[in-house]
Amino acid sequence: MKIAIGCDHIVTDTKMAVSDFLKSKGYEVLDCGTYDFTRTHYPIYGKKVGEAVASGKADLGVVMCGTGVGISNAVNKVPGIRAALVRDMTTAVYSKEQLNANVVAFGGRITGQFLIQDIAEAFIKAEYKPTDANKKLIEKLDSIEHASPDQADPHFFDEFLEKWKQGAYHD
Ligand code: RB5
Repeated sequence: MKIAIGCDHIVTDTKMAVSDFLKSKGYEVLDCGTYDFTRTHYPIYGKKVGEAVASGKADLGVVMCGTGVGISNAVNKVPGIRAALVRDMTTAVYSKEQLNANVVAFGGRITGQFLIQDIAEAFIKAEYKPTDANKKLIEKLDSIEHASPDQADPHFFDEFLEKWKQGAYHD
């Protein structure tokens, strides 16, 4: 099984540790970045992970930023993605079993590395339980998403990247 993984610069070390953990458990990992601690922004990596999962390049996704809020929102905007921002095992397993979530998101500055690892593994192993009610609910969710043709443009984030380069943003 292939897992796409992505993060922003705040939690790259945690992402690498989780990636190594998943590899040690026998999963193939597609690391969508970011790869270092240079300031960047989570929408880029949420989008990359979402597209990898939605296109079938990866089976599931794991994303993280500082709080998990930013990147979970970003990945959820990719059509076909159902991402769950979680802090606990119960929510993660529920999201897969009942809502067929295909991405799990974490706040790497909120939840500890070992807990993230265990929850990510539990999410991956949990199995969707299709019921008529769940299927209807997921169909409804899927019906309210709309793709923007703009997001296929490889220069989609250029405006932001240019501003960061110019030092317009400060942590
Ligand atoms: C840093 O950009 C920080 O805002 C981000 O990692 C995250 O916490 C947002 O939800």
